[in-house]
Amino acid sequence: MDTKIITIDNIEKESYKLREAANILKNNGIVAFPTETVYGLGGNAFSEEAIRKIFLAKGRPSDNPLIVHISDVKKLKKLVKNVPPVAEVLIQKFWPGPLTLIFEKLDSIPYSVTGGLDTVAIRMPSHEIARELISLSGLPIAAPSANLSGKPSPTNGDHVIKDLNGRVDAIVCGGDSDVGLESTVLDISGEIPVILRPGGITMEEISAVIGQVEIDPHIISDANVIPKAPGMKYTHYSPNAELVIFTGEEKEVVNRINLISERLMKSNKKVGIMTCNENLDLYNGNEVLSLGSKLDYCEIARNLFFTLRKFDDLYVDVILSEAFELSGIGSAIMNRLKKASGNNIIEL
Ligand code: TXA
Ligand code: MG
Repeated sequence: MDTKIITIDNIEKESYKLREAANILKNNGIVAFPTETVYGLGGNAFSEEAIRKIFLAKGRPSDNPLIVHISDVKKLKKLVKNVPPVAEVLIQKFWPGPLTLIFEKLDSIPYSVTGGLDTVAIRMPSHEIARELISLSGLPIAAPSANLSGKPSPTNGDHVIKDLNGRVDAIVCGGDSDVGLESTVLDISGEIPVILRPGGITMEEISAVIGQVEIDPHIISDANVIPKAPGMKYTHYSPNAELVIFTGEEKEVVNRINLISERLMKSNKKVGIMTCNENLDLYNGNEVLSLGSKLDYCEIARNLFFTLRKFDDLYVDVILSEAFELSGIGSAIMNRLKKASGNNIIEL
């Protein structure tokens, strides 16, 4: 398949370029586009044909449901049975933005979108290109992250081109994603809202607005708990290299990473080390990359998937990484690192 690449540097001047992409969506084709979290691969949420194409292009298991993206809150009532009061408050505060809410679905949403569930995940992105594209299409747009299934989510157009060129109808390239991690998925169907996936909006921010919030036990424990977000049970975000995370006292982490790195390099392995600006000079590896300052976790989050993909481009065999604190967006960072490493965590 020929993939049309559409590059937008300035949405105010170039929004006309999105007309072609919107037409593809109207004709049940699939289009990758930037959002503030990560790039998404969109298709008409009412169309079985478009949904089938999305799953096929990504190689995604069919029981892993998609998030439906809207550009106008008014469209919500065409998709969901009811909007509980707690949702109204959250929408008022966090939409548009990186918060996905789970509602009871109407029959208009096919079960192929929801992986057979009676609920549907909805989000209104804040990225101008995403909003303009959705609005031009006049459709709710089902969109998973625009990576091949299992790979780190894409945070720029080049990542998407690498994974999906030739597999989708069009790719809209529009710079770097600002958040760098996916949206927070919040289930509001029970009495106490539950975070099914930590993400761009933190637990602290949510509870400041609505009070008590719980976190799906699957996210915090390694025990055999079945996750409520079906997607969370799959291997995810994995670079080609083996990834190992080290937690514990900082000095010990640095020493242990250097010790293992030296051993691996002696046995001719190419070693990548993932750290923060403050510790960059303390390490000895073939490729030492910083995610940003440890005083700015938003920067660390923004660079995480980018850096995992960068290590792949550098063909390292092993990535040894520092861990991060679990507060604020740190819990989303650690959730992605855990999954990317297949729970390969060494506690010192
Ligand atoms: O930031 C994001 O959310 C990005 C951008 C493109 O918007 N999208 C994204 O989609 O991350 P995806 O498909 O990679 O992840 C969707 C997550 C999965 O963990 C899935 O299981 C969960 O949302 N999910 C979707 N519908 C659900 C539902 N009805 N109930 C529970 N979890 C659901
Ligand atoms: Mg994804």
